[in-house]
Amino acid sequence: MMQTYIDEAEKYLLHTYNRYQVVFDHGDGVKLYDTDGKEYLDFVSGIGVFALGYNNKEFNDAVKAQVDKILHTSNYYYNVPAIEAAKAVTEASGMDKVFFTNSGAEAVEGALKVARKYAYLKDGKTDHEIIAMNHSFHGRTFGALSVTGTEKYRAPFGPMIGNIKFAEINDLDSVKALVTDKTCAILCETLQGEGGIRPATPEFLKGLRELCDEIGALLILDEIQCGMGRTGYMYCFQKYGIKPDVLTTAKALGCGIPMGAFLMTKEVADNSLVAGDHGTTYGGNPLGGAACAAVFKLYKELNICENAKTVGEYLFEKLEEVKNTYSEITDHRGMGLMQGLEFDKPVADIINNALDNGLVLINAGTQIIRFLPPLIITKDDVDRMIVILKEAIENAH
Ligand SMILES: Cc1ncc(COP(=O)(O)O)c(C=O)c1O
Repeated sequence: MMQTYIDEAEKYLLHTYNRYQVVFDHGDGVKLYDTDGKEYLDFVSGIGVFALGYNNKEFNDAVKAQVDKILHTSNYYYNVPAIEAAKAVTEASGMDKVFFTNSGAEAVEGALKVARKYAYLKDGKTDHEIIAMNHSFHGRTFGALSVTGTEKYRAPFGPMIGNIKFAEINDLDSVKALVTDKTCAILCETLQGEGGIRPATPEFLKGLRELCDEIGALLILDEIQCGMGRTGYMYCFQKYGIKPDVLTTAKALGCGIPMGAFLMTKEVADNSLVAGDHGTTYGGNPLGGAACAAVFKLYKELNICENAKTVGEYLFEKLEEVKNTYSEITDHRGMGLMQGLEFDKPVADIINNALDNGLVLINAGTQIIRFLPPLIITKDDVDRMIVILKEAIENAH
């Protein structure tokens, strides 16, 4: 049965993913079920999307109620769910203004436009530069791809947008070496995801903040993967006592309803995009707004950030033990419910073994296993995961 679906998928869907051989049908809490009825423990959450777990009744009801009310108007009119969502996300992030998008990549596009317009209004020039980080990932559209610090993603699609330079994360001198009088922004993931679960250090982030203040550039933090409570803080930068000028967020923002956002301080909002500079048909529509508002309400009710912190610490202890047990594991990085184990070999076999045994894991690069469970997981779920993970490591080639 499942194989029939897979054959059909490969016939019609463009093959831009080497998909795992499973068709998921439904979910409940931290469990997923395939079309043959097999149960899986989920440590991916749709790559950091399903923070609330699957089939949360209150969330589903909020979305369904909005479906029956109105799905879409246009950004030329106000709608109540988007206003509620805007209030919630600005309060939670400490930023002042928000623009809603449909995806993470679009949020990054918007952030780049904000940075260029802010600089343009200051000096009237159109040759500004942006410094991004090696190993970063910001999305697949041209602007987002242009600032993505992995050559293989960009290479076949040149030319990229111009005037982007890449520095090393956690090496402030490498950033400083790229600064010129054209630098308008520095862009960094607070905790790099796709590039291999690499956290920016507190010193590096503080250094970037000071550098941006000194040269009058904007600090853009991309928290599309590491934000929304994943690290135990609503936004990861809040752990470090610094604040970006522009912030991007997505994934768990809509918990399954496509939703992203870029946010900024009042100072940036007052000196960048104005009416006519940016827009979207679907971004911030009533459905997305209702989902997003429900997400923030449920985060509070369910103490999502606290759970991510507590269970994240437990996961850290357990993964440390795993790392110390197997010599092929060379590093363990991350925090909260966003962690990675680096191996001295490709991890595809381990992930496939785990899947066979009912555990969903995902890689970040060929040699790193990434752990991004729903933020409602318990210590018992971690224990169950560790048992299957160890078996999968032991049975891998
Ligand atoms: C840090 C970061 N930025 C941007 C993106 C792009 O988001 P989307 O896939 O929603 O366009 C991702 C997606 O994984 C991401 O992890």
